[in-house]
Order: sequence, then structure tokens, then C-alpha cells
Amino acid sequence: MNDNHIEILCEPADLRVRLAQWRAQGQRLVLVPTMGALHAGHMSLVKEAKRLGDRVLVSVFVNPTQFAPNEDFGVYPRRLETDAELATQAGADLIFAPTPQAMYPQGFATTISLTGPATVGLEDKFRPTHFAGVATVVAKLFNLVRPDVAIFGQKDYQQLQVIRQMTSDLDMDIGIVGAPTIREKDGLALSSRNLYLTVAERDCAPRLYAALLQCAREIGMGTASIGAALEATTKNLKEMGFVVDYLEARHAETLEPVASPEEGPIRLLVAAKLGTTRLIDNIAV
Ligand code: PAJ
Repeated sequence: MNDNHIEILCEPADLRVRLAQWRAQGQRLVLVPTMGALHAGHMSLVKEAKRLGDRVLVSVFVNPTQFAPNEDFGVYPRRLETDAELATQAGADLIFAPTPQAMYPQGFATTISLTGPATVGLEDKFRPTHFAGVATVVAKLFNLVRPDVAIFGQKDYQQLQVIRQMTSDLDMDIGIVGAPTIREKDGLALSSRNLYLTVAERDCAPRLYAALLQCAREIGMGTASIGAALEATTKNLKEMGFVVDYLEARHAETLEPVASPEEGPIRLLVAAKLGTTRLIDNIAV
């Protein structure tokens, strides 16, 4: 225990002991996997977890295998004490914060190989090794914790679909819940990476969500074809100073391309850079 009165465990063996006690009491366990630097988005997941189960475990682990060598693993914010405080406020019962050595001991040799929603040309096109790292660490967390339910944010929509697919394909008996994206008042989706934005970039950043809303409205009302709406929105974003990695309309479950609104529930997904900061967002049409 620490001053925040929440238990922080770093060793998988200790975790197993604590969880065995809860399981013996018949408690329903909900896992919220995170990389820390918690914000109101993460806290909403913890609050939802509290509604869905008896005990809420938040994992805090900056997973090295999901970062490419040129990405921000080294500078990713790490502040476990603040995270513990915030997780406690939101209703968490336990934090699991393993070391990289505990998760990936010398000789670690297994990676989950993915297709389906992990290889549809969205995030995977720009971060080709990312989802294998995510899926492998999430599978490890699922096996260590064996939760009844795990909660993920719709903010990382492709990640959510990849986890749903993996859980189903590998017969993991865990309910996967997707929670809505929490935004700043001006519409910018909360993200630990927003901290990297300069003042001018932060002013511009909410226009990404505004553009998504406008694009979804045009597709939804049929005032423009999907292709025309995407093209016009991409052009607008570029004029505003975004470097657009992708803006796509995809089937909300498979993430396969869709040509018309009749082809199923549609999700609009975008990734764009402002300066060196890469923002992602998505909404339903
Ligand atoms: P991280 O980026 O810390 O996010 C942890 C969880 O919080 C994810 O499920 C993410 O979708 C959710 N989240 C982030 N911003 C949110 C927002 N504004 N509103 C609602 N939920 C939000 O995603 C990861 O960590 C990692 O890839 C992980 C799954 C932990 C595996 O390492």
C-alpha cells in the first residue's frame, strides 16, 4: 500500500496471489489495460469497469514491443504515483505495473500474428509492427489476470477491433467492452500525446474532429458520395496544416472498405500529423 491507499503490484506472482483471493470470493473482475499517463479518457474506462464488476484492475505498462524504433517509447510520460491517485479516484482497486523484464524476460520468443482488422491498411500501414505488440501484451495481460471483462476505448478503434478478433479467435473467455471517446470541450479527443502539441498546434487540433463530423454528416445525409466527401475533407485538413496519413470510411466491424452507406454500419477513421505529433480519431456515420 502507498499514500493513495491503492495497492500497486509489480510482480506477476504477487498479482496471481491477490487475484486468486478475489476469485475465491466469487468477485467479478474487470481489467482496464493502459500505458499510464492517465487522463479523463482512461478514468471513464475505470468508472465503466466499476459498473460492470466487483473489482477493477488497472494495468500500467508502457509496452516496448508496440513502439517502432523511431517512435516515442523513450519519452512516453511515466508517472505512476499520479496514475495511482487518478485510478483510485475513478474507483480502481488494484494497479498492476510490471517491469519490462517481468513481461519480457530474456529469451522471450512468442508474438501473436494477426490478419483481418489488423491488416486493412489503416494504422497498420503506418505502424506495421504495432498491433502484433499490442495483441501480444494484451494476451499476456489476459492470461495473467484472467478477467471476466476487459475495457478498451473506441478512441483506438482499430485496436478495439483487433482485440475483439483475437479474443474470439483464441477462445479467450473474456467480455470485451468498447467505451466511448472522451473529448475536450472543443472536441479534441483526449490523448497522452496531446501533451506534445505546441500552443498553435493545440489551437488547430480540434479541427480534426470538426472535419470528421462534417464529413460524416455529408455521407450520412447523402449530400456527397463517400469518395467525394473523403476527398473534400482531406483537402480541407491539408489546407489547415494537417499532414493526413489516412481518412477512410470503413465497415464498422470488419474495417474493410465500403463504397456506399448501404454496405453496413460505417466508421470514419482518421490519422493526421500536426508538426511531429500524430493524432488519431474516429466516429460513427
Ligand atoms: P493507452 O494509450 O494508455 O490507452 C489505454 C486505453 O484508454 C485504451 O483502451 C484507449 O483506447 C483508451 N483511451 C485513450 N484515450 C481515450 C479517450 N479519449 N477516451 C476514451 N478512451 C480512451 O491503448 C493502449 O494504451 C495500449 O495499446 C494497450 C491497450 C494498453 C496495450 O499496451
